[in-house]
Amino acid sequence: MVFVKRRREKDIGWITVDRPDALNALNSNVLKELKVAADRMAADEKVSVVIVTGSGEKAFVAGADIKEMLGKTPLEMRSFTMLGHDAMNTIARMEKPVIAAVNGYALGGGLELALACDIRIASENTMLGVPEVKLGIFPGFGGTQRLTNVVGKGWAAEMVFTGRMVTAKEALSMGLVNKVVPLTDLTKEVKGLAGMIAKNGPIGVRLAKSAINMALEGSLTDGLAYERELVSLAFSTEDKEEGMKAFLEKRKANFKGK
Ligand code: CAA
Repeated sequence: MVFVKRRREKDIGWITVDRPDALNALNSNVLKELKVAADRMAADEKVSVVIVTGSGEKAFVAGADIKEMLGKTPLEMRSFTMLGHDAMNTIARMEKPVIAAVNGYALGGGLELALACDIRIASENTMLGVPEVKLGIFPGFGGTQRLTNVVGKGWAAEMVFTGRMVTAKEALSMGLVNKVVPLTDLTKEVKGLAGMIAKNGPIGVRLAKSAINMALEGSLTDGLAYERELVSLAFSTEDKEEGMKAFLEKRKANFKGK
């Protein structure tokens, strides 16, 4: 892998987009590597929580690669968009929780990548936006859908139609990011959050992610039916026995993911 680095620290898996010269812009190769990295994280049994970030101190990801896109025919752009959707969907649908450590510009496809993650923690220097209309196009890596799901139609429409960037603080006020911390504290913050999640019963967390995703994809009736089935499934696990007994015995649970 050239542009996307993967590493594991205990039970936390890191995926880093590493193309700092182009502010980590997403070209076809980056998108293919992102998908491979996400698939490998999903398959690594030692990884409980995944963190996605960008290389350097300036950008998380500054968007799809404009140089690569310029020469594309509509059909080539369609294939490129499929690559983008594939990478983002692989992250969004991964069973394990995924946190975006947003360490600077998150623009266009970069914000769409952060939106494919479950939780977004941003550094204070972060600027977020979907500036595609300034290029004569509009967000095409899931932004029209996932941004609307996260911040609601009013904010999404304003951000998409104006293309203006918002500060991390403004993003926090609209629910676009969960927390804002100084850049120097970002790694510690996301590791702490990942650690809190990793302590819990992994099957419960994964089933919960699947049920939460359903809230965005189906009706309330379907979502509640799905939730019922998954909660029942959670009752088939050893982790449920251990978690409940540990509570009653006033001790820490020792989850095995079984
Ligand atoms: N694609 C390709 N290259 C990019 C890029 C992008 N999205 N963003 C930045 N770069 C490159 C620049 O071309 C520049 O390269 P050179 O040194 O070779 O000239 C390098 O990264 C550094 O960028 P700047 O010199 O522009 O840095 P800056 O500090 O002056 O500005 C910025 C930073 C405000 C983020 C600015 O780079 C910028 O506006 N980038 C483009 C943001 C954008 O429009 N993103 C949306 C892309 S379209 C998209 O994502 C479509 C979709 O929905 C899928």
